[in-house]
Parts: sequence; structure tokens; C-alpha cells
Amino acid sequence: MTEQSPALDNLLTESRTFPPSETFSAQANATADFYAEADADREAFWAKQAERLHWDTKWSQVLDWTNAPFAKWFVGGKLNVAYNCVDRHVADGHGEQVAIHWVGEPGDNRDITYAQLKDEVSKAANAFESLGITSGDRVAIQMPMVPEAIFAMLACARIGAVHSVVFGGFSPTALRSRVDDQAAKIVITTDGQYRRGKAAPMKVNVDEALEGAESVEKVIVVRRTGDEVPITEGRDLWWHELVDGQSAEHAPQAFDSEHPLFILYTSGTTGKPKGILHTSGGYLTQAAYTHHNVFDHKAGEDVYWCTADIGWITGHTYIVYGPLANRTTQVVYEGTPNTPHEGRHWEIVQQHKVSIYYTAPTLIRTFMKWGNEIPQKYDLSSLRVLGSVGEPINPEAWIWYRENVGANSAPIVDTWWQTETGAIMISPLPGVTATKPGSAQKALPGISAKVVDDQGVEVGKGGGGYLVLDKPWPGMLRGIWGDEERFRETYWSRFADQGYYFAGDGAKYDADGDIWLLGRVDDVMNVSGHRISTTEVESALVSHPTVAEAAVVGATDPTTGQGIVAFVILRGNAVDGGEEAVQELRDHVAKEIGPIAKPRQILVVQELPKTRSGKIMRRLLRDVAENRQVGDVTTLADSSVMDLISSGLKSGK
Ligand code: WTA
Repeated sequence: MTEQSPALDNLLTESRTFPPSETFSAQANATADFYAEADADREAFWAKQAERLHWDTKWSQVLDWTNAPFAKWFVGGKLNVAYNCVDRHVADGHGEQVAIHWVGEPGDNRDITYAQLKDEVSKAANAFESLGITSGDRVAIQMPMVPEAIFAMLACARIGAVHSVVFGGFSPTALRSRVDDQAAKIVITTDGQYRRGKAAPMKVNVDEALEGAESVEKVIVVRRTGDEVPITEGRDLWWHELVDGQSAEHAPQAFDSEHPLFILYTSGTTGKPKGILHTSGGYLTQAAYTHHNVFDHKAGEDVYWCTADIGWITGHTYIVYGPLANRTTQVVYEGTPNTPHEGRHWEIVQQHKVSIYYTAPTLIRTFMKWGNEIPQKYDLSSLRVLGSVGEPINPEAWIWYRENVGANSAPIVDTWWQTETGAIMISPLPGVTATKPGSAQKALPGISAKVVDDQGVEVGKGGGGYLVLDKPWPGMLRGIWGDEERFRETYWSRFADQGYYFAGDGAKYDADGDIWLLGRVDDVMNVSGHRISTTEVESALVSHPTVAEAAVVGATDPTTGQGIVAFVILRGNAVDGGEEAVQELRDHVAKEIGPIAKPRQILVVQELPKTRSGKIMRRLLRDVAENRQVGDVTTLADSSVMDLISSGLKSGK
């Protein structure tokens, strides 16, 4: 397996544990016997979890795995996902409960009850149907964190249309490739978005993306910033003109348990993002089950806040589907954590008495940098469960989170999962697990994960290798949109003999048999919890006229987890690699992919280290990027290359 960075190795010397308090355990949703119950009969366990939902037609079979790796869960069952997330709570007498405390970045607020959510979703569903959108059609959504984004997702689910949310920070080129890949009929966006206290354009980027896009019939525009935007007659419609006048009555139709719910693109090891496909019944079951147990959520009592963006899987599963299926009252915040000041999150926690807070290690490390005195200024006593997701959390950040945010008592759940897994897979259970800073610990009841060696044999306690999922799970991806071969190849070929799902993460067991995640073992980087492939950034770089060749690595970064470091060879070697040229390249990558992919550093070099078969040895470049002594160079075709790179960098060339 690929080598781990020293920072990650340090994780494994951590030995503190934090057992749950008796008071917490006494009231916890999860109990220790869940593990044994699930092990005794996995399918019966999941069937019980599926009972959390309203099914119009009950399933006849829990799992059909005969056509592996294509799973069918709750075979023959029929349900409407939006009905489950909205209508049934109103029908049960909770229409007046706030579903969403929406907090706009500039300070505007909007509280939306379940009854209002039902009206908004129904109106949007009627509006989409009036445009001819029907079951199975694809709808692309590129929007900031405004309530209409959630209405739109649920309205799609309600009518059986497949949504595909594209993160607001993605470039027009990135949006276009996703729209084309799925042949989206409709694109929904906003005029602009608030970012760091300023209104930034959105619709003009969408216009640029959609020039000549053949599949797109309509573009629906939500007014957010009020900035003037160009309107294409016959194609563009204002949300308020289209939706507001619609009837708030809409009869939800039941769809098959395996009906596609959404496509979400994520980076893989090649340049082309993969459209991960999720379906309805199994996904919603696992989303609701995990949200209930991992966060110990109590409907009608807790105020929950997941700080993710709906453009990522965490926003899908833990802002939209899981929480709403569980009748959660939640905060949805539009903006950045330091606008207008660095205490913004804690101010919101205090104001809304947030009790469950779910965020990413990169943000925790940023809070640490901003200083302990900032959270100390606010009343955070409402917080009782804290979550982390997106990358390994280093013990320092974990302890800081516990002490400064969790008053030394709130359990921290370090949740490992992926876009592909749909929902949380490995995590402590609050009230049950004695937590360990830095370890995600155990597969949840009903889930099975193993750490295996190169041959697919499980390693022993203290051993390291690859993380695999050895049994199907309800929220698992059902494929890559339009590319069955890539689905098999990416996830199921590495351990084909055993039939294991290969997650792409390195992992270890500690002496207790707990799992520690050690980062990606493929060419996927994790920057602030965002997956970006090295190839994607390399192809963006070589698409610039001055670049002859590029190699990109993820180097350990104290705040963002990894930072993108690019090594480029310029064309003809005549062009000088001065600051301006480098800045232009960074901007070029931002334009091609989006600002999140902007390299932290670009180093202009004369040569790249390659094996005799021509493969770039990223391991060596990572040594340079992390200021380490360069490792074993014996497999290089020309071992002097590394000296050339290192000396060139020292002399500033
Ligand atoms: C990483 C985000 C360690 C991992 C939900 C995985 C983690 C990738 C953790 C998926 C965690 C996520 N500890 N690593 N708790 N959570 N990862 O698809 O490398 O955006 O493969 O899904 O993030 O990223 P994705």
C-alpha cells in the first residue's frame, strides 16, 4: 500500500478513551445490544430499520444480491421519499414544528415549519410537472444554501425526477460536463450568492456553462441577491413567477424502492468525475437510521445543525434526507463561518440552542487557529452531541473540539463514509462507545467493514492495509451513471475474488481491534474534506498553453488536511516560471474546475521523476512538497532527476 504521512502515523500512538456518561447512556437511542442483534440476522435488522419509513407497498424481500455488485433492497416495496420527509410529519400533527431555521449570510432569517415545507415542495412539484418533467428525468441544481435548493431537491423526489446537485463553487466547465453526462432537462440556479459578505454572480456562470447544451430545456432562477441577470427568452424562468402561483396540493405518487433518487458527481482516479447513483428505499432507510442513532436525535426536542453544503453527499444525507425523514428541527446556514466575524457559528448555536453539531476537521482546525477565546464568548451549553466527517480528525483537533465546544462532556462521533456509501458506515455510537480521539472505531450495527492486506486477507490487531466493505448495505451506490464497466472496475475489481467493495482508503486496527482511517491510497486528494483527483488538476494545468507536463500531489497541510502542490514543466523551457506565470496557472485551474482545486503551490521544474514504464512517482514529489528527505529512488528511470528538482527549488528556479 502507499506510505502514510508521519502526521497520520502519530494518530496511532493516541491512547486516551472517553467512556459515555451514565446520564447520556440512560437516554441514548442506541444500545450496545444493537451489534449482536444485527449480527444475528442482518436482513431482519435492516427490515426493522426500514419500518421507520412509510411504505405504500411493503417489500417482499429485504435484499436481492443475486446480480452483485448491483444490489436491490426492499424489493417490491414502494414509497415516496418526499412524503416520508415532509407530509407524514404534517399528517401526524407536527405541521407547526419548525423544520428549518434558515440563516442567511447577511443576517436575514426564515423559519420554515413542516406545514410550510409541504406547501413549498408541493408547489415546486406542480411547477416542475407543468414544464413536462416526469419520473426519471434529470434535473441539475447549482445553488447556494437557500431554502429553495432543498424545496427543489424534495420536489424532484416527489415526482420521481432525479436530481443532481452541483456544488456552487464549481466552474462553468465542471457544471457543463455534469449536465451533459446526465443529459439534464432542467437546470435550477440563483441570480447570485452571498459569499464572505459580498454578492457574487451565479446565473452568468450557468449561462456560460449551458451555451449550446442540447439537453437543457429550461433554466429556473431563484432570486437571492437581487442583482440583475441576463434572461434568455423561452428558456429562463424566475422561480417566484413559476412556483409561487401553483397549487399547494400535490398528490405524491409511490415509486419503486429502487427508483433512482439522485446522481452526485465525485472525483475518481481519472480526470472524469463519476456520477454516483443512489436510489430510494434503502438509501432513505440508512440515512434515517444513522441520523437517529449516530446523532442520538430526538424529534421535537433537538436542534440539529450540519454545516455541510448541499453540493456534497453530507448535505444530501444529513441536511435533507436523514434529518427530514426523522422530523428534525435544523439550522441551515447560507454563508461562511467568519462572516461577519469568527464567532458566527457559536452565535448561531447560542441563538438557536443547537444541541447536535456536525462539521469537518478542517473547520475545527480553523477554529483552533482563530483562538479559544472566540467560542468562550458564547453560551454553548445546549450542545450535547458533536460530529466530524470528511477526513481523519487528528487527536489535537478532536480534543480541542471536546474541550472548547463540547464542554468536556458531549460525545464526539467521528463518522467515516463516502459519496458512494450514501450514509455513515463506521462511527462510534454515542452513549454506547467509549470514544478515542482520531479513530472512527467500528462499523455500525448492520454494516460490515474489514481491513485487509494486498491479497484480501484480513489483517490482525495492530495491522494495516486497505479498508473494504465485505457485505452489501442499504445505502450503497447502485452504479456510476451510464458506466457499468467503470463501476465494476473502480470498486469491485481490486478484491473481485472475495467480492469486497474497495473503498480507496488505507486503515489500521489498533490493539483493541478499532479501525483508524489513514487517508486515501489512490490518486484522490482530500482538501478541506473535498475530494479532488490529481489527474483532474493535472489535466486542467496541461490545458494551459504554457504547460508541457504536470504532476500533482496532495501534501499534508495543517489546516486543510491536504494542500494541492503541482509540479509543472513549462513549454520550450523558454518561458520563465516567475510569480506572474504561476499565479496565472493557479487562476487557470480555478477557472477550469473551481476555486477549491486551486493549487496551494506550483513549482516549476525541468523534469519529473518517472519509472522506467513512464509512471510519475508521486511519492517522491510528495516528499519534496512536505520538505522531507526524498525516499527510495531506485525505481526511477533516471535517479538524478530528484537532485535536479531539489536543487532547482533551492535556487528558486
Ligand atoms: C474521507 C464524505 C477519515 C475518506 C462523507 C473517504 C474520512 C472520503 C472520514 C469520502 C473520516 C470521510 N475519517 N476519512 N471520518 N470521512 N473520509 O465522498 O478518504 O466526499 O474515502 O464523502 O473522505 O469523501 P466524500
